[in-house]
Amino acid sequence: MDFYRILYSSKASDAMKSSDVMNIIATAQAFNKTADVTGMLLFIEDGFIQYLEGAEETVVKLYKKIAQDSRHQDCKVLLQGPSGEKERSFASWNMGLKIITDQDFQDLKAMNENPDFNLFNELEGKPDIAKELMKYFYNHGEIDFGKFWNSDNKIRKDI
Ligand SMILES: Cc1cc2nc3c(=O)[nH]c(=O)nc-3n(C[C@H](O)[C@H](O)[C@H](O)COP(=O)(O)O)c2cc1C
Repeated sequence: MDFYRILYSSKASDAMKSSDVMNIIATAQAFNKTADVTGMLLFIEDGFIQYLEGAEETVVKLYKKIAQDSRHQDCKVLLQGPSGEKERSFASWNMGLKIITDQDFQDLKAMNENPDFNLFNELEGKPDIAKELMKYFYNHGEIDFGKFWNSDNKIRKDI
């Protein structure tokens, strides 16, 4: 079966805290389990990037609901359509979560030669890399930005 997926970005509403994100995740995991939706949510400073996969009708309907949630705005679809893959990308996660921490930002800054580099903007502009980063987290349980950065075809440190 070909799974349908939507990858989108959004800006978190003011004063969104990690604890608010945990509430979102709790709701998401409970609902997505019943709806057979899998995916991952990245929380980067003041923005979200989320990958939703499942049956087309379910994913489209869920995305419409999520897009109306007042806890974020400016939802932009970055990728949408059949995944073209036989397996789900996040098969065992009804909704995985990675909060990019201050430490992660420090690691990124230390590695990056461009002082204007902004991870959120980078991933928003390169949805395939956003997905790869999520997959990296799915496969490794953490993101080693050094390794991710330097592997082939990933974010280059000079952009
Ligand atoms: C960034 C973000 C991601 C969300 N992801 C999901 C999700 O994957 N699944 C889900 O059921 N709700 C998700 N929600 C919550 C929904 O927007 C909504 O609040 C929830 O489904 C409850 O809907 P209800 O009012 O119909 O019960 C998300 C909300 C935000 C702000």
